[in-house]
Amino acid sequence: MDNILEIKNLTKVYNDAGGEIKVLDGVSLQVKKGKFIVFIGPSGSGKSTLLNIIGLLDKATSGEVFFEGKDILKLKEDKRAKLRLGKFGFVFQFDSLLPDFTVLENVNMPSLLKGKSNFERAKKLLAKFGIEALSDKMPPSISGGEKQRVAIARALMNSPKLLLADEPTGNLDNENSAEVMKLLKAMNEEYGITVLIVTHSDAVAEQARRVISIADGKITSDRRK
Ligand SMILES: Nc1ncnc2c1ncn2[C@@H]1O[C@H](COP(=O)(O)OP(=O)(O)OP(=O)(O)O)[C@@H](O)[C@H]1O
Ligand SMILES: [Mg+2]
Repeated sequence: MDNILEIKNLTKVYNDAGGEIKVLDGVSLQVKKGKFIVFIGPSGSGKSTLLNIIGLLDKATSGEVFFEGKDILKLKEDKRAKLRLGKFGFVFQFDSLLPDFTVLENVNMPSLLKGKSNFERAKKLLAKFGIEALSDKMPPSISGGEKQRVAIARALMNSPKLLLADEPTGNLDNENSAEVMKLLKAMNEEYGITVLIVTHSDAVAEQARRVISIADGKITSDRRK
C-alpha cells in the first residue's frame, strides 16, 4: 500500500458562547509512506489540532483518517491506545520528559508501557544520538537541545511507523534546531519512518520536499519541491 495516511474531509468544530468555531474546515490529504512533510501556518490556524487528531490525542468532529488503510477514528479507546504506543512516535515543543525519571528511564518508558521493558534498546538509541553520557541525569538538569534529543530517542523506542512532531524546534536556538532537524531527517532516511512536522519556522520548512500551508483550518497550499 502506497499511502500510509489518507485524510478525508476532516473537521473540528468547537461550540462556545459566540457560536461555532471551525478549527479544521474540511482538510483532505494523502501521505505516501516514508515521506518527510512540514505543516506551516500562523498561530491558531489548526496545525496542532490536525496533528493531535492524526495521533489520536484529540477527536475530530467529522471526517476520516485512514492509517495503513484503516479508518482509525472509528477505533475504540483500547485500540487507539495500542496504535499510539505501537505505531506512532510523538515529539512536542516543550518539556515532555518525566522529571522524576532518569533520561534512560524516560527513553525506555514506551517499551515499559507496552509491557516489555528494553533498556538495551534505550541505551543504543542514546548512543546513536551521542548522548549516552546523559543516561543517569534527571531531565531538569539537562539543556533544551539535549531534552529534544532525548524526546526523539523516546519517540523511536517502539519503532514507530509515523513520527508526529509539533514545533520540535520551537524552543531552541538555531544551532540546536539544526541538530534536531538533522536527527529527524536521519530517522526518516535511515529507517523510512514517515515524519510529519508542525512549525512556524521557514528554516524548518525549507528542509522538507513537501510543505503544506494551513490557514483558518484549511489547506491553502501543498508544495512539492
Ligand atoms: N477547547 C477549545 N475551545 C475552543 N477553541 C479552541 C479549543 N482548543 C483550541 N481552540 C482553538 O482552535 C484553534 C486552533 O488551535 P491550534 O492549537 O490547532 O492552532 P495552531 O495552529 O497549532 O497554533 P500555534 O501555532 O499557536 O500552536 C485556535 O484558534 C484555538 O483557540
Ligand atoms: Mg500549535
